[in-house]
Amino acid sequence: MLNLHDALKQADIDPALKEVLDTIASTCKSIGGKLRGGALSGVYGSESSENVQGEVQKKLDVVANALLKHALLNNRHVAGVASEEEDDVIGGGDEGRYLVTFDPLDGSSNIDINVSVGTIFSILPSPKPGSQITMDDFLQAGHQQVAAGYVLYGPAITLVLTTGQGVDMYALDYDGDFYQTHANISVPDSTQEFAINMSNQRFWEEPMQAYVGDLLLGEDGPIGKRFNMRWVASMVAEVHRILTRGGIFMYPWDKRDPAKPGKLRLMYEGNPMSFLIEQAGGAASTTRMPIMDVQPKQIHERVSVVLGAKEEVARVDQYHQNA
Ligand code: AHG
Ligand code: MN
Ligand code: MN
Repeated sequence: MLNLHDALKQADIDPALKEVLDTIASTCKSIGGKLRGGALSGVYGSESSENVQGEVQKKLDVVANALLKHALLNNRHVAGVASEEEDDVIGGGDEGRYLVTFDPLDGSSNIDINVSVGTIFSILPSPKPGSQITMDDFLQAGHQQVAAGYVLYGPAITLVLTTGQGVDMYALDYDGDFYQTHANISVPDSTQEFAINMSNQRFWEEPMQAYVGDLLLGEDGPIGKRFNMRWVASMVAEVHRILTRGGIFMYPWDKRDPAKPGKLRLMYEGNPMSFLIEQAGGAASTTRMPIMDVQPKQIHERVSVVLGAKEEVARVDQYHQNA
């Protein structure tokens, strides 16, 4: 079986990028180890602190962030990092050629109930290797990413990765190594399964209400087929389901809180997941434009996310066309 190290060795990519990916994979093994111990690892519960987005931090948000930050900043190829749990970007080595953004622990509300969570990462080229980085260096559109992926901590620990040459999946074996289980994953163009937090329905824009309303009408409505629904409340688990058996995932703009029109963050949730989905033949849209075309203005900016089966994402865009 092909392990991650050998798969990266065979891939036609910069050796420095391989080292950065190795660092992320081995750190995620440690995060997975803490999750495996559950309450015994002392990582359940919340801290008294809030992150820059005003969310109460879980203990494991803080632990996972510290592990990734420390490991990446000790890798000489990393010029800087940005994290959901850090207010500002952090500079690394001056000779580093890569910038890494990450969501150290995605799906935090699932930690204490022992349901799937994940780590998401995105790797961008550093625009000016050799000098100290600034926040502006990170503000690159998603199509500039050189690699992206996630680790899903579920019944199995799974790593899913793209370096722009398709999407491959690995599982963590008992011997502590990731082995490739699927190569060149593809997302079917059509689907009969959707994922959205229905409790926000009354806050969505009118075209999103119309689209989901038509999904619910099933074979009696204009779409003409019956849909099933899932909501894990962990984007990593939802994207993993879509890469495994298809589907569409949506966390659209809503008007619950005018200061936060969307929930998901562009630089470490929207972009890396869009890169994976597009590399697997699916689509990713804000409802108005491809997510990876959005020019970021801030490191923690939020984005409306619709991704998965091409046919359904195109239909969502169509509902929004004249809105
Ligand atoms: P995080 O735990 O990193 O803040 O992200 C959670 C995100 C995402 O993973 C998930 O799709 C969504 O929030 C769930 O939101 P609701 O609680 O609104 O369903
Ligand atoms: Mn998240
Ligand atoms: Mn998070």
